[in-house]
Amino acid sequence: MSDGIYWIGAEVHTEDLFEGIWPIPEGVALNAYAIKGDKIAIIELVREWGGAALTFMKNLKSIDIDPKDVDYIILNHLEPDHTGFFYMFRSLAPNAKVVTTEKGAALVEGFYGITDNIKIVKTGDSIDLGKGKVLNFVEIPNVHWPETQVTYESNSGILFSSDAFGSYGIHKGSIFDDEQPEAIKPYWEEETLRYYANIVAKFSSSVLSAIEKLADVDIKMIAPAHGLIWRGNPKAIINKYIRYANYSKELQEPEITVVWGSMYGNTETMLNAILKGASEQEIPIHVHQVPNEDMSFILADVFKSAGLIIGCPTYEYGMFPPMRYVLEILNEKLTRFKKVAFFGSYGWSGGALKVFNELSEKMKWDIEEPLLFKGYPSKEELQKGEELGRIIAKKVKEIPSKIKNEEY
Ligand SMILES: Cc1cc2nc3c(=O)[nH]c(=O)nc-3n(C[C@H](O)[C@H](O)[C@H](O)COP(=O)(O)O)c2cc1C
Ligand SMILES: [Fe+2]
Ligand SMILES: [Fe+2]
Repeated sequence: MSDGIYWIGAEVHTEDLFEGIWPIPEGVALNAYAIKGDKIAIIELVREWGGAALTFMKNLKSIDIDPKDVDYIILNHLEPDHTGFFYMFRSLAPNAKVVTTEKGAALVEGFYGITDNIKIVKTGDSIDLGKGKVLNFVEIPNVHWPETQVTYESNSGILFSSDAFGSYGIHKGSIFDDEQPEAIKPYWEEETLRYYANIVAKFSSSVLSAIEKLADVDIKMIAPAHGLIWRGNPKAIINKYIRYANYSKELQEPEITVVWGSMYGNTETMLNAILKGASEQEIPIHVHQVPNEDMSFILADVFKSAGLIIGCPTYEYGMFPPMRYVLEILNEKLTRFKKVAFFGSYGWSGGALKVFNELSEKMKWDIEEPLLFKGYPSKEELQKGEELGRIIAKKVKEIPSKIKNEEY
């Protein structure tokens, strides 16, 4: 990456879900780094996952680092995707001092039972590795956990940013942004947004504070713990993260996401009418059926879309259960300030709307008059559906897009 600074991470292909919830069909990179001054530091480790620990060890060997000679293990963030291999690696690197924040040290003890040979650092502290290499630490709490910090190497200008500025997806050929072919850029946009919506969205205000805190740092390269290494244009990923963080506020894209479920097709019939009305405005519409499609992908589309249309039937005096789950996650992940419509079929007395009202209470959504109908929708009801789709699409279309030309 730079003189004496190396990527020693692993590309993980696995059927496992990330954090036990989120599918990663494109895999995920666990980025780890080694810095050779007079002293040797390792920044982030890996998890024993799909062969990652072995790859990490082989990468160390390939740059002639014997674990016994490692002086520092910098743990910016203690989540086990980066530290799962720590317990074992420490026995291979007994001379290494573990460098982390005070809250990080408590997690080292909690997860790995280790309390000795730990150096606690805080914002403003630094470690001189010799040969001009100096590590500087800045705490960025709650991006992603409370103990999180970043490490800035001042000679190279590389910011080791932990989960911040990360992405799902493995590297397909090169770890660097400036070596990505044009055709792969939509892949990275999709995987970065989905990672943000799934993992980081809840902490959007902390993301913006962290970016502000780092404003005076002369960042020449951003090396996150997942995803691309931003060497050519580090500003691009900062701008992406600012854009994503603002999706939690009122600044979203002129797009609509429709999430629907239906047991016997009555709600689905209305869905088609709504889509007909909405599609007239020629804005992007993302349609997801539950429970067939995974929440990870639904969340990414809902998160960026200014328009949201939810359709589901009444089920046992309440809401179709998979939609209840969707709404609970949307609430947790701060999908706020959207133009929203709700529709669905019921058999006799209904009940889905009551649950919708309860679950959407904190969302700050601008909700149209709900469209509820008994059994199969009538011609008049279908016309109302078309109109409802049209209303949402017209409102959404007026919103300017935030996607700038973020070149990389
Ligand atoms: C398991 C089950 C539970 C239901 N519970 C209710 C209910 O509590 N109240 C009600 O009004 N309708 C209830 N219904 C009727 C459905 O809401 C109704 O059939 C509706 O038209 C289904 O819409 P769909 O075709 O989009 O699945 C229930 C239906 C099923 C299959
Ligand atoms: Fe994390
Ligand atoms: Fe992570």
